Amino acid sequence: MDMTSPNPFLCRLDQIPDGGVLGVDPPDPEGEPLLLARQGNSVRAWLNICPHSGRRMDYAPGLFLVKDDKLTCAVHGATFALRESGLCVAGPCRGQSLVAVRVQVRDGMVMRA
Ligand code: FES
Repeated sequence: MDMTSPNPFLCRLDQIPDGGVLGVDPPDPEGEPLLLARQGNSVRAWLNICPHSGRRMDYAPGLFLVKDDKLTCAVHGATFALRESGLCVAGPCRGQSLVAVRVQVRDGMVMRA
């Protein structure tokens, strides 16, 4: 086992509301913040970095504006379709996408894959 690899644990599955999202900040201050979206036992993840100007999209740490599977960036209002791979469907970076991150769910834990 590679002891130098970062801890892949992100959060418990039940910390993410089913059908909702949760932001996770890495313990490493150099690490990138993530956005986790849950549907039942399935979790998808993206960097919490807006393609418009590279800023975080949460309005408070870990909290996002989400309605009907669409997430709106709290900075300038870009809207991303979470069921369509994080594609921006409205706003200043329309047509660009969030950067996907591979995660997996194991024993009720969400881990980086
Ligand atoms: S930084 Fe997200 S819309 Fe501008």
